[in-house]
Amino acid sequence: MPNLGVNIDHIANVRQARRANEPNPVSLAFLAELGGADGITVHLREDRRHIQDKDLELLRKTISTRLNLEMAATQEMLDIAIRTKPYMVTLVPEKREEVTTEGGLNVISQKEYLKEFTRELQSKDIPVSLFIDPSLTQIDASNEINCKWIELHTGKYASATNTTQLSELSIIKEATIYATSLGLRVNAGHGLTYQNVEPIASIKGIEELNIGHTIISRSIATGLKEAVREMKLLILNPREDRLINS
Ligand code: PXP
Repeated sequence: MPNLGVNIDHIANVRQARRANEPNPVSLAFLAELGGADGITVHLREDRRHIQDKDLELLRKTISTRLNLEMAATQEMLDIAIRTKPYMVTLVPEKREEVTTEGGLNVISQKEYLKEFTRELQSKDIPVSLFIDPSLTQIDASNEINCKWIELHTGKYASATNTTQLSELSIIKEATIYATSLGLRVNAGHGLTYQNVEPIASIKGIEELNIGHTIISRSIATGLKEAVREMKLLILNPREDRLINS
């Protein structure tokens, strides 16, 4: 069965909405690990809308599982990855205006560029994974640039209707069989939820699922009652002498 990489960007989204100190993705990564995460995934975006450089630096020093750094294939990110040395880099397409990563990397159209980019990371012992749509031609191109890993984009499967879900699932299955037959190692993710994860988790050959939004959403649902209860207790039994900095 696949491992679970927990994407914690959405914790940082809440913090950045207030430019506050909480919630802190670095300390909460520890809870994700306690829950069974096999790895922690973060996307350091060019616009730094959620994860910040400092988060990445601290996560690298503090987590006890594997750090998967998602990033665009830019010179700035290359320098950061080489400095940080995560367990793995996943290259993703990035558009400033998008809400989340839309579609996979077009490896075919930038083969030479990505080949050199991947080579530079691999020369520093950083394995590279390419986030691609489950397309056989994109898989061929990923293989041709000597990449060892791919991550199949499950977004189309996740947003499929009842009538198209089975065929989207077959596409991911076929892509996995094809990629592994070429010797590529396969991860998958995007849009997976508690409702739709099981058929994907059952596909033989997928080594890791990267899941973010639904887990962070569920943690609000499961934790909200307790959080309100704790606040209510303080309000009902206040200690007047309890100064913030004492
Ligand atoms: N994998 C990749 C490459 C992603 O970009 C994302 C979203 O940041 C995910 C997995 C996780 O997607 P979701 O938040 O929908 O679970």
